[in-house]
Amino acid sequence: MTKHVPPVDQVTEFRSDILAGLQAPRKTISSKWLYDDVGSHLFEAITELDSYYPTRTELGLLEKEARNFGRLPGARGAMVELGSGSSRKTNLLLDAFPDLSVYMPVDISANHLKDAAERVRRAYPSLAVIPVAADFTQPLGKLPLLPELPVLVFFPGSTIGNFEKADAIVLLRSVQEAMPGATMIVGVDRPKEEHILLEAYDDPAGVTAAFNLNLLQRINRDLAGTFDLERFAHRAVWNAPESRIEMHLESLADQSVQIGEAVVSFQEGETIHTENSHKYDETAFSEIANRSGWRILDEHRDAKSWFSVYVLQAV
Ligand code: AVJ
Repeated sequence: MTKHVPPVDQVTEFRSDILAGLQAPRKTISSKWLYDDVGSHLFEAITELDSYYPTRTELGLLEKEARNFGRLPGARGAMVELGSGSSRKTNLLLDAFPDLSVYMPVDISANHLKDAAERVRRAYPSLAVIPVAADFTQPLGKLPLLPELPVLVFFPGSTIGNFEKADAIVLLRSVQEAMPGATMIVGVDRPKEEHILLEAYDDPAGVTAAFNLNLLQRINRDLAGTFDLERFAHRAVWNAPESRIEMHLESLADQSVQIGEAVVSFQEGETIHTENSHKYDETAFSEIANRSGWRILDEHRDAKSWFSVYVLQAV
């Protein structure tokens, strides 16, 4: 693994975000900061776990439907992928779309993006690969899009579930406005028995715990923090009213931690809320789609109804 020095402006944003989140009455950190190089590798390891069902369930659905998706107009135009995480999902669609002309991965991490673009360029030499380094949680207004090409947006992984409902609507609305007339393939994790969810987000091997705790390591490294990783523990909680899994880091003692010049105090049992992973059934998701300018054309679901892949049309 190469060691990357984060760009100065990203460290500045990281610091102000972390300090604001830890100085709030209820401590939170945005889940987007989980994905530094180490965090991204740990997330890859999570997707290989037996207990983490979303990745393989979605892959199965994509495999089954890829040829059908190849009939969507965008499959002969430009595919815009939000996040450039999983090469297996991307390749599955690129293999099924021989007439695609442009592949545009959009990712907050310049390193991921470079890797993804190089990988695709090598494997699909006839494809124009246009990587866009952007935080797609911010308005997407400035994508270098080709107006004459039909667009297929690919938004896998149930990443949409990481946003609060109102923010998910803002995000999908901004995608619709950036790419009028587009079609979108979006993966959405569904509610299911609590014990299945808890095992997926608190696996016996402790990979998810390491993924969550790496956030504190990242603060120690990039922001001169003094977190003792032995004095915090990973917690996964099912919040039924909000239909979401929450990840927290729980302080195991009364303690103070320095972050550069700043001091943050924790009470024993107090938590930092680090991630939401909303689980939407068809009613909840169609409300989000309808309120953000999209119409559901199709839904594909696995036999256990654990995960859905929707095809949406911008209205
Ligand atoms: C990649 C954000 C969709 O919420 O399931 C996995 C991240 N967090 N285990 C998810 C995650 C803990 C994952 N997403």
